[in-house]
Amino acid sequence: MIIAVDGPAASGKGTIARALAVHYDLPHLDTGLLYRAVGVATARAGRDPDVEADAVAGCRIDETLLTDPELRTEVAGALASRVSRHPAVRAALLEYQQAFARQPGGAVLDGRDIGTVIAPDADAKLFVTASTEVRAQRRHREDALTDYDAILADIEARDARDSGRSAAPLRQADDADLLDTTDMTIGAAVQRAIALVEARIRR
Ligand code: DC
Repeated sequence: MIIAVDGPAASGKGTIARALAVHYDLPHLDTGLLYRAVGVATARAGRDPDVEADAVAGCRIDETLLTDPELRTEVAGALASRVSRHPAVRAALLEYQQAFARQPGGAVLDGRDIGTVIAPDADAKLFVTASTEVRAQRRHREDALTDYDAILADIEARDARDSGRSAAPLRQADDADLLDTTDMTIGAAVQRAIALVEARIRR
């Protein structure tokens, strides 16, 4: 079974995808981490994340980079968003993600284009969202040292870039179920996600 989980930054999609992977005993791939690694590798090499050829050079990811805590920062998230708008970067990461999705037994993948591009034939697709303010509050709780307004501005900029790009923009697949986590606890959101997947696979 392939489960696709898409949505904007801090919507709760990562937490939900991890919980679904545990519930169904499936391997999980956080595809944002791949783009974060490319963004950080590009910046560390002194290259420009907005120049496609520079970002493509950052696609030869060293596996150890994927566990680097720097990848979890807002700076890495913004770099990821910048490199991810280049079609050649998306093409370079496509095969790995599709092979992960198609492994025997299936998988859970979360990102921006899983239900639309990476696994359009997924058995269940969730589009997880929440209001911009609630997403900024969640990030602020994790990172109290950064000003709330700066986090809100960063999330708005990231949403605009991820949804406005021409290559695989962030959008809900036509056959995805919408899960708005604005007023939900993590536990409630996970229970709802499982119920939505169950309803899909029973159809
Ligand atoms: O999910 P995340 O915040 O770790 O993603 C970081 C950035 O990577 C996001 O702003 C856009 C890009 N991304 C993408 O374009 N496609 C994906 N499947 C996953 C992430």
